[in-house]
Amino acid sequence: MTEVPALPRPLAVQDTREFEFDERDFRRVARLIHARAGIHLNPHKRDMVYSRLARRVRALGLRRFCDYLDRLESAPPEPRGGGEWEAFTNALTTNLTSFFREAHHFDNLAGHLQAMHARHGGPLDVWCCAASTGEEPWSIAITACEAFGTLAPPVRILATDIDTSVLRTAASASYPLERIEALSAERRRAFFQKGAGPNAGLCRVRPELQALVQFRPFNLLAGDYRLRGGFAAVFCRNVMIYFDKPTQHAVLGRLVPLLAPGGLLYAGHSETFTHASDLVVPCGQTTYRAAAQVPA
Ligand SMILES: C[S@@+](CC[C@H](N)C(=O)[O-])C[C@H]1O[C@@H](n2cnc3c(N)ncnc32)[C@H](O)[C@@H]1O
Repeated sequence: MTEVPALPRPLAVQDTREFEFDERDFRRVARLIHARAGIHLNPHKRDMVYSRLARRVRALGLRRFCDYLDRLESAPPEPRGGGEWEAFTNALTTNLTSFFREAHHFDNLAGHLQAMHARHGGPLDVWCCAASTGEEPWSIAITACEAFGTLAPPVRILATDIDTSVLRTAASASYPLERIEALSAERRRAFFQKGAGPNAGLCRVRPELQALVQFRPFNLLAGDYRLRGGFAAVFCRNVMIYFDKPTQHAVLGRLVPLLAPGGLLYAGHSETFTHASDLVVPCGQTTYRAAAQVPA
């Protein structure tokens, strides 16, 4: 039998890597984050997963991803935070956001809040359920102030995210000045304070706005939302893209009953819910209302 010369192994990325990480590890990560946060990881996210989790493997003094994942799976799930599950989840979320992202929603929100207030009075509740580092809930707060012409509008904002680390940034209300560069000078002056001395180069959201927003960790995959509901608006933008369709449907099934009559759901620019027409109907650019009043 002729001996076949051993072919050189294709340059495996893992050969040059600090930690052992193979296809089985990737599939295990994908399964775990899907079960915990609903996030669907495509195979092309392999390198991203490696670089995001390598920090945890290093921090724990381990050499292989499989050891890290064994350690993770033997840790208690700790839904209230802390521990490796929280670090694992925080590492795998994508938190891209900006002030007044998809600006048309805020123009729409201003009119919607005024109309809801004229109709129902009282404080209006808004839920921003994937708030990331806070630019979105602060943009909602600014919109409310402008809509009612006061720094104390009749609006309360609940801002949540599964990622506890971005929520800390959000609650600090402090950002590098570049983050608000694209806002008008008028908005920058009215709603932010410029840092000085050790805070030079930073800005802080005005305390009056901070009083409008409450931050809290929250997993959209939770079985029981335990929220009072009656939301005049829910911002659920650019998070459903990470979920597969059955997960999106399940999340919408819990979220939609929390809308007040006439309440609106704002979705991200590439999120369409045609597969959930039993729950929501479109009523504007990536804006939805409940298909029927589903009991909470
Ligand atoms: C790309 S950011 C979008 C931020 C903001 N909504 C926007 O549109 O600018 C997606 C956010 O969804 C959060 N997220 C991912 N899975 C989640 C889940 N299961 N429950 C709650 N938040 C989640 C991430 O932590 C991240 O901050």
